[in-house]
Amino acid sequence: MDMPCYVCSTREVRPGESKSFVLTTTAGNVLEVALYNLDGKFYAISQRCQHKGGPLNKGIVQDNIVTCPWHGWKYSVVDGKSPHEGGDSVNSYETAIVDDKVYVDPNPVHKGKRVSKPHKKYTDVEDAVTNYLRQASADSASRIPSIELRKVRVLGISTTNANDKVAPRPSTSETALQYALDHARTQLAAETVMVRLRQLNIKDCEGYYSKNPKACIFPCSISEMDKDDQMIEIYDRMIVWADIVVVASPIRWGSASSLYYKMVQRLNSVQNQMPTYDNMLIRDKVAAFIITGGQDNIQHVAGEMMSFWTQLGFVLAKFPFVGWSRGWYAEDTENNYDTMKDEARFRKDVARTVRAAVTMSDLLRRNRYDEGLLEKPEFRSSEVT
Ligand code: FES
Repeated sequence: MDMPCYVCSTREVRPGESKSFVLTTTAGNVLEVALYNLDGKFYAISQRCQHKGGPLNKGIVQDNIVTCPWHGWKYSVVDGKSPHEGGDSVNSYETAIVDDKVYVDPNPVHKGKRVSKPHKKYTDVEDAVTNYLRQASADSASRIPSIELRKVRVLGISTTNANDKVAPRPSTSETALQYALDHARTQLAAETVMVRLRQLNIKDCEGYYSKNPKACIFPCSISEMDKDDQMIEIYDRMIVWADIVVVASPIRWGSASSLYYKMVQRLNSVQNQMPTYDNMLIRDKVAAFIITGGQDNIQHVAGEMMSFWTQLGFVLAKFPFVGWSRGWYAEDTENNYDTMKDEARFRKDVARTVRAAVTMSDLLRRNRYDEGLLEKPEFRSSEVT
């Protein structure tokens, strides 16, 4: 049985304040507690949230309930229990004041428990990604070329928001993407899938990364909280299924489409895995881009896209983007689609970009490019001294 540990003087945590402390018990166990002063009474619970370890001393306390600052789980600071019947709880500890000194008994009065489980679609993607990464490492270690024994897979992501229901019209960017996928399938023996973002229910990024990099988890906590969020389908297709991702966007006031940015912000959880957890999710994959319409700014949109997708861990082949626009004075936007679809040079450029991406994908996969990098200690940020 551990003896109560001295924590701090009563003056160190004023009424309404909270602080975290690391205690070492007489048995040598290390304990992280959040200490709260509620109107002169001291309460101690575990500092780490049962969900993903968020710092509970930094949460807002209302009516004795602390809200985790990372994703909003709630606990009573009095007994560590959930305010909801049958919810998750954290350890709570008895406190004592002796001569203006606060002591915490390290033997928990209530033992915290994780009882809730994420919904099935969420855990399915989590498992699929874990298995995929395990397989990628195993392939690399044993040099079993399982990844080469199938057709190359090309995922097309159409980011136009053209409304199919109210006033259907052909989209230049999506038609060009369809050329690309058709070419990959018929000329390069690829398997292809087109995903249209406008047909998916993708929730907005809520900026958990801004609270703390570790609060931006993968799969994204928004998908965990909302089982209707279909960003999970993009994670699955992009990380597990595809070898090549071709993103197509129209130009909207000099930038990519709003749907493109909506998706990109939700991909922060993929990019963040490397700097924060040394976990490289994107392995041996190639990205390419199709940018059409508008009157200007292909290079600007391409620059932004190449910057983001390479930070995700994708590799670019030769001619990684192909663009089509008619210039500043082309106000006859009703002719954009017809002029593009008859433009042989553009089709040729699309085919060239796709062929280069497939060739690069072949090189990467045969050489286990990413697995080779991961074998080098200097590649992992945690190993940089
Ligand atoms: S709610 Fe606390 S870490 Fe997610």
